[in-house]
Amino acid sequence: MNEVNSDLGVGLLGMGVVGTAVAATLIGRAEEFAKHTGKNLKLHKVVVRDLDRQREIELPEDTLSNDVDAVLENSDIEIVVEVMGGLDPAGQYIRRALAAGKHVVTANKELIAKEGPDLFEIARKNGSSLHFEASVAGAIPAIHPQLRDLRANKIKSITGIINGTTNYILTNMVQKGMAFDNVLSEAQSLGYAESDPTSDVEGYDAAYKIAILASLAFDQRVSPDDVITEGISKIEPKDLEYAAELGYAVKLLAIAEQKEDGCLVRVHPTLLPEQTPLAKIDGVQNAIQILGDLSGPLTFQGAGAGGSATASAVISDVLEVARALAIGNAPLWDSGIQGEGDILTLESLETRYYLRLLVSDRTGVLARVADVFGEKNVSIAAVYQKEIHAQEDVAELVIMTHKASEASLNEAIEMLSQIPDVHAVNNRIRVED
Ligand SMILES: NC(=O)c1ccc[n+]([C@@H]2O[C@H](COP(=O)([O-])OP(=O)(O)OC[C@H]3O[C@@H](n4cnc5c(N)ncnc54)[C@H](OP(=O)(O)O)[C@@H]3O)[C@@H](O)[C@H]2O)c1
Repeated sequence: MNEVNSDLGVGLLGMGVVGTAVAATLIGRAEEFAKHTGKNLKLHKVVVRDLDRQREIELPEDTLSNDVDAVLENSDIEIVVEVMGGLDPAGQYIRRALAAGKHVVTANKELIAKEGPDLFEIARKNGSSLHFEASVAGAIPAIHPQLRDLRANKIKSITGIINGTTNYILTNMVQKGMAFDNVLSEAQSLGYAESDPTSDVEGYDAAYKIAILASLAFDQRVSPDDVITEGISKIEPKDLEYAAELGYAVKLLAIAEQKEDGCLVRVHPTLLPEQTPLAKIDGVQNAIQILGDLSGPLTFQGAGAGGSATASAVISDVLEVARALAIGNAPLWDSGIQGEGDILTLESLETRYYLRLLVSDRTGVLARVADVFGEKNVSIAAVYQKEIHAQEDVAELVIMTHKASEASLNEAIEMLSQIPDVHAVNNRIRVED
């Protein structure tokens, strides 16, 4: 057994939003953490890019450095916390740390989702370990429950709102009746959206996270490329208004399901009945529902981002490693992120759909539209005529379908687009009841 209360060196790569909260907490709660883990966690070095930048917290002298070797080549440092972000050089640094036998804790979803298997392989070969609770949904326990608490289960599905920026935008579009672009600008000025919002708004950020969750849940590699990804930029205030009139909220959902012939993993805007728990998650909040065969449905909800919330998850991993080292265990996770399995395409999906069509305001058009759906085996549950533009002789139709296959719906939309009286299929949103 290792000596209890011996020092355990920690090196931090990055001291921005998350790193600052991690450093402040490691220093401020050193005594509690020592009692809890049996190790004195010492923050030896913090690596940043710009040494002249004003920092929110004061570190002991000589702690701050712009030389990554101060951490990677430092034999006193056993745990490296990477909170720089991006693929490169963060990935290079993590590889070097793992190869040197150091344990790594990261909040980097993009890196874990894209390069996780390679990193875990390096860790395995070198007796080091890689921990990534903070890579998904900030403070919400998303990784540990799957690796530990729910290990006895077969996970059937994971459904989540795991991108705070898009949830903030959709919530504000509803509450203020504002257009997507205007809410996005407001979110950027408040710091809820990045200056380049593509990753959030087009669903890539959520895709990285659900790829990680699905890999763990189904014990098979799910890469971000396997995730069917559609963002929220085409959602218009009208869609939100009509959905609300029909008793639904629109959310950017990330959904991973294990089906008989493989798993289906997707991120897209979704109509959710307004009384369901996920429909009530507003603003920058996140929520994750896990359905285990033994546990039944579980819902976790809370802060999905922010310095302190993410530091909560980062430090939980640091403490896990420290505890394991204190009792002489190797802190190895069997991540299950490298197995193989079939990944299904969207064509296999069967669900209900919301469609918004612009058609000529003329008798016979509705019957023609209904014929197309009938021909393609898509059964219509309800049709609403929402708006009539008398001058242009056009009307807006909202159609809710019964369950239909995505393939049939696509064929129906293709046929509709051939009808001269159908001017546009303005939106198609999947419904989860
Ligand atoms: N912010 C959140 O709410 C949140 C939530 C969950 C996960 N995460 C993840 O946490 C990670 C960090 O996010 P953040 O928001 O804290 O980022 P951030 O505020 O931009 O901070 C990045 C830090 O890394 C340093 N850095 C960047 N490139 C570097 C390089 N080449 N060499 C040395 N230092 C470098 C920066 O140094 P300077 O200070 O000198 O510029 C800065 O201190 C990302 O992977 C992110 O996806 C963030």
